[in-house]
Amino acid sequence: MSRTSEISGFYKLSPKERAQLVREFAGLTDEEVNLLQSTGSLKLELADRMIENVVGTIPIPLGIGVNFLINGRDYLIPMAIDEPSVVAAASYAAKMARPKGGFFTSSTEPIMIGQIQAVDIDDPHGAKMAILAAKNEIIEKANEQDPMLISVGGGARDLDVKVIDADSGPMVITELHVDCRDVMGANTVNTMAEAVTPLIERITHGRVYLRIISNLATKRLARAWTIVAKEAVGGEAVVDGIIQAYNFAAADPYRAATHNKGALNGIIAVTIATCNDHRAVEAGAHAYAARTGKYSPLTVWEKNKKGDLVGSIELPMAVGIIGGATKVHPIAKIALKILGVQTANELAEVMAAVGLAQNLAALRALADEGLQRGHMSLHARNLAIMAGAQEELVDVIVERMVKERKVRFDRAKELIEEYKKEQ
Ligand code: MEV
Repeated sequence: MSRTSEISGFYKLSPKERAQLVREFAGLTDEEVNLLQSTGSLKLELADRMIENVVGTIPIPLGIGVNFLINGRDYLIPMAIDEPSVVAAASYAAKMARPKGGFFTSSTEPIMIGQIQAVDIDDPHGAKMAILAAKNEIIEKANEQDPMLISVGGGARDLDVKVIDADSGPMVITELHVDCRDVMGANTVNTMAEAVTPLIERITHGRVYLRIISNLATKRLARAWTIVAKEAVGGEAVVDGIIQAYNFAAADPYRAATHNKGALNGIIAVTIATCNDHRAVEAGAHAYAARTGKYSPLTVWEKNKKGDLVGSIELPMAVGIIGGATKVHPIAKIALKILGVQTANELAEVMAAVGLAQNLAALRALADEGLQRGHMSLHARNLAIMAGAQEELVDVIVERMVKERKVRFDRAKELIEEYKKEQ
């Protein structure tokens, strides 16, 4: 077979047949193909129904964040992530927060925004008025699309219209506000936006192009806050260091991006564990961070009168506990059971608390001992395994590298060779 990626009918093949083609293309060994298809908890047949062109599955570690006290309730947090230290750091921060009651949360109603873009309109402001006047009819039409959502108390609630000045001319953007209850809502909102299109075209005499959900879910916000006793965080100097770290992020987008990445380490780990749409959560988080025109931190750290640390976070959180892959993927179902959340809002709030904890852990480590020391042995462990160490040799190599302060792949290899010679 020639080495081309143009394979017509690839989608019609079975995962095994597809894997054979990939094997020829990439020169995979039998062992590699077997590994690719050794699916464990997510069966190949199910994976094949979830996305297209499936050839295998990729397991990533699932850890449990412990010590989380949120609104007076204990939670175990399933976190799917391939980066060392994240789960340990979240658990450590949650422990620091416990003496003053852990985390407290709130959220808005689970309202997503669906956008309908209308163009070629001579009188865009007049068209805006006409759409607003027909609001009830448009909302009624939207609500015919999902009787199930209506029966559980959700549905299109309201709409806004804005005229924007695009390079190509004015556009009239109708924004449907849809209460999605316990679903993430992309399918529901997109279906509603499509259904009202003929109405919008009739009212505006314009032409509708896009009808799609917005991931900048400013009407579906989750919030969490915490008070961390100064003793729990390591004393007044560490509190001040964390506040300095926050102020750095507040003043500089280059730091704010990394600051927010730290919070997202935790949030996205829960998003993946529950098979929610982590791209949607991440897009929403970054767009929200930039909503004032200046990219800023999603968390705020300050100090109260007693000198204790007060932290808070607010961000869009478009997650569901029914629909999508959350109720299809067997591990996501178990993750939701471990969390024990009853609503999508509760999940969103827990995730906000995890994000705040993750950010706290990172800032504390950075402001106090420096991140590398804490990371060193976990990093060394990964390197030792990558270099071929097994069983008790892993610990031996890790100890040597950390002691020598030479945590590097080449050093791990050398030490393994030395060890083999000694045997
Ligand atoms: C690493 O994954 C995340 C951090 O860089 C976050 C931060 O710097 O705040 C530690």
